[in-house]
Amino acid sequence: MRGVLITLEGIDGSGKSTVLRGITGKLKEGLPDRKLTFTAEPTTRSRPGQVLREVFLKGGHSLDAFKLEELFLFLADHADHLAATVRPSLEEGHIIISDRYSDSTAAYQGATLQGIIPDPVAWIRSTCQPWDIIPDLTILFSLDPDLAMERIRQRSGREKFERADFLRQVDENFKRLAETAPERFVVLDASRDEERISEETLRAILNLVRSKG
Ligand code: ADP
Ligand code: TYD
Repeated sequence: MRGVLITLEGIDGSGKSTVLRGITGKLKEGLPDRKLTFTAEPTTRSRPGQVLREVFLKGGHSLDAFKLEELFLFLADHADHLAATVRPSLEEGHIIISDRYSDSTAAYQGATLQGIIPDPVAWIRSTCQPWDIIPDLTILFSLDPDLAMERIRQRSGREKFERADFLRQVDENFKRLAETAPERFVVLDASRDEERISEETLRAILNLVRSKG
């Protein structure tokens, strides 16, 4: 049995991690016969992932000028994630749930590279597509960036992408990605209360897995 790949996407503060934490137990209960793999990008496993987390994503440093280097680190981390986790887990029939995946690279680095190369979202997608594993389902948490910033202010440790103007561009990129692949995207209004969003996320995942037998 081939596994199933589900990804969660959305701007910083859209509530992905909160919902995922909340539904983990219910997913295990709802799918007692399946192995679940919870994973995330950037990874903590690969060297590029570590460099991103420890250096690039901290913000407030001279690396802000190194946008292409940053893109290639995200792509290298994604390649490692595919080889070390996603492909082997799919082959073993697992249900993989990834908090962020290659759509984040298209949306975020598509925003950082705006004005530097033409149509960066399309360029990143076409660079990644020939070697990527396309998710069976992507749940996009859509949230107004001002509301996301209000939520983020309440949590400690600001990261460099946590600015409303930048997140607005990222959110637009995510919506454009969803429009180009409506067969795999479910877009949720993430401004509602956690319980509603969790319920809809859980339902979307269980429906997809059950429809695959
Ligand atoms: P993400 O993983 O998408 O960056 P988080 O899950 O860390 O987002 O949520 C960001 C902040 O918003 C956290 O402080 C969290 O408690 C809060 N939060 C998450 N979901 C909701 C919600 N539906 N309504 C209000 N606040 C929320
Ligand atoms: P993450 O730890 O998921 O942050 P959060 O919990 O706030 O959603 O991701 C760290 C940051 O990295 C986040 O600002 C999004 C950004 N990012 C990219 O810019 N490109 C990518 O390809 C990925 C996976 C993440």
